[in-house]
Amino acid sequence: MLKNFWYAVEFSHAVQHRPRKVTCLGQDFVVWRRRDGQVACLSDLCVHRGGALSMGTLTDDRITCPYHGWEYEGDGACVKIPANPPGRGIPKKARVDAYPVVERYGMVWAFLGDLPEQERPPIPHIPEHDDPAFRAVYWETTVEANYERTMENVVDAAHTPFVHGTAFGNPDKPEIPDFEVTQKEWQAEADILLSPPLPKGLWGALARRRPRPEHVVVTNGWYLPNIVKLHVRLPFGDLILYDYNIPLSQERTLVKIVGYRNFFTGKWADGNAVKRIQKIFEQDRPVVESQRPELLPFDLAAELHIRSDALQVAYRRRRQQLIDQGWWVDGDDIVTGDVPRRQATVIASPARRDNPDLARAWVHKARGERDEPAGSAE
Ligand code: FES
Ligand SMILES: [Fe+2]
Repeated sequence: MLKNFWYAVEFSHAVQHRPRKVTCLGQDFVVWRRRDGQVACLSDLCVHRGGALSMGTLTDDRITCPYHGWEYEGDGACVKIPANPPGRGIPKKARVDAYPVVERYGMVWAFLGDLPEQERPPIPHIPEHDDPAFRAVYWETTVEANYERTMENVVDAAHTPFVHGTAFGNPDKPEIPDFEVTQKEWQAEADILLSPPLPKGLWGALARRRPRPEHVVVTNGWYLPNIVKLHVRLPFGDLILYDYNIPLSQERTLVKIVGYRNFFTGKWADGNAVKRIQKIFEQDRPVVESQRPELLPFDLAAELHIRSDALQVAYRRRRQQLIDQGWWVDGDDIVTGDVPRRQATVIASPARRDNPDLARAWVHKARGERDEPAGSAE
């Protein structure tokens, strides 16, 4: 799992003026919409006794811990400790990590890392979202598989005839013509020729009125850290899926899908579009959940790659560069699993770097700090 990226952690419409727990990178966070419309995102771990802030309530725009009622502002600072008599100060260490948030493309994005603003990798551009020719549907599901397995599945064109033989795959035409990968710093994509059968049902009625092409160009792509795109050019229009593969832990993934289409753009056709997305996803699920090893190997030679796996190989190579850069999060950094722990680590937020005054303000250690000898952080 990679830190130092903007992660789409929730659909915008799901974040209201009440605490909501979201999970990503094996960490829990609490998000809520303030009265000015801005969304706040804090580590869900109260520094007093580790209560889950997301189980608390809002007092104006502050979040109140459910255990002893400490109140935190959206910037992570505790401003009220009810057990203290009036006049007793709030300790500087009464503070949790706060993460930058933006809303874009119908999603709430939190920057999970400590990079200063100008060094942060960009949020990918999703042109369909603001294009009135397109209509979006939203769907999500939890998968018992690692997020990199679910990601690679979507950019993997060669599985289509086998796993999706009864949907858009064509078992009679499994060959993948060679394709070029266009890679940039944070993304890669490729136009791949497939020979799908005619769609069935509602969309099939539209397809049968058009001349049938021999191939269709499908654009597959990934955007770091966890988004994959599938652009299918149907005879009657475009269907573009963006899958946000949110790592709940190493072995569970929350997949949020936004599907854009520029045909049948009435609300009446939404249910049908969601059903198709769901059907295809449910064909992938058993295959992805059964893959072993569960985690994507670090060593490229640990699995065999062929020409048609070029997008996945590009991803694995790029990931290795970021691992070498120290952006990888795993093992003891994951606190959402079933293993009891004596220490909780969090993802370091930008304030840890930006604000030297707060250097000693952190109760919970961040990734990489826990091996320091006792007292060195004091
Ligand atoms: S655990 Fe949150 S106030 Fe005590
Ligand atoms: Fe698939």
